[in-house]
Amino acid sequence: MTEEINWLERINATARYLREKVGDMPRTAIILGTGLGELVNHIEITHALPYNEIPNFPVSTVEGHQGRLIFGMLGGKRIMAMQGRFHYYEGYDMKEVTFPVRVMQAVGVKTLFVSNAAGGMNPDFRIGDLMIITDHINLFPDHPLRGKNHPELGPRFPGMNDAYSPRLIAKAREIAAIRDLRLVEGVYVGVQGPTFETPAEYRYFWRIGGDAVGMSTVPEVIVARHGGMEVFGMSVITDLGVEGIVSEVSHEEVQQAAAAAEPIMTLVMQEIINQFDEL
Ligand code: HPA
Repeated sequence: MTEEINWLERINATARYLREKVGDMPRTAIILGTGLGELVNHIEITHALPYNEIPNFPVSTVEGHQGRLIFGMLGGKRIMAMQGRFHYYEGYDMKEVTFPVRVMQAVGVKTLFVSNAAGGMNPDFRIGDLMIITDHINLFPDHPLRGKNHPELGPRFPGMNDAYSPRLIAKAREIAAIRDLRLVEGVYVGVQGPTFETPAEYRYFWRIGGDAVGMSTVPEVIVARHGGMEVFGMSVITDLGVEGIVSEVSHEEVQQAAAAAEPIMTLVMQEIINQFDEL
């Protein structure tokens, strides 16, 4: 009980810290996962706060992520961006993984953009494809909303219909059509990792309705939706778990494929963020 009160207190204390440090808070946030690292170069940065300087923030450990909370302008919109996220496989619990999203909620963020790298099960997918996430299947072993519910944060039993904003998905399709970009669409399966999948697991995820699988995003999206935010997400397909062509996958290959797809991911995200009407 006291722990729970402390948790709310911690969220609010961090929100207060950010308000004091940065001033007016944005209504739009981005989690710069794999494939979106370069987007940071397009942000006119006003503040960049290393996670270890933000009270109550966990500290990022994984290779390839720096761990800063960035504030600035992107295409005329005020935004905040997480450069580096917290993965469950690193050992954080679900409240830690999703803590930054609660802080976003507390400072008044209304729309969340996320990206990740994922392995594709859909046989129509190719390495380097960008997938608009239309829905997810949560296979994490713990749930970020487990435990006492705080009605001021959201409902006890939140719906997960339209977890991924139909209007933002439509906007992404429109941008892809205008720019003649190949964007695929599909269901993201969220798993804990850190192992990549066995061929049988890829086959299983495809059979249960998944198009791509990865080790992030689902916890953050659940918390964002619980908190009433609108969400848009994209995956870079960095390897394939398609029957007959399951490739040996490594972290380096994932990083390489993601880097190759990065300019297009960046372009699409930037245009959506430019063009959408803030709630
Ligand atoms: N499985 C899980 N996570 C991933 C994969 C994968 O094949 N590729 C990139 N992230």
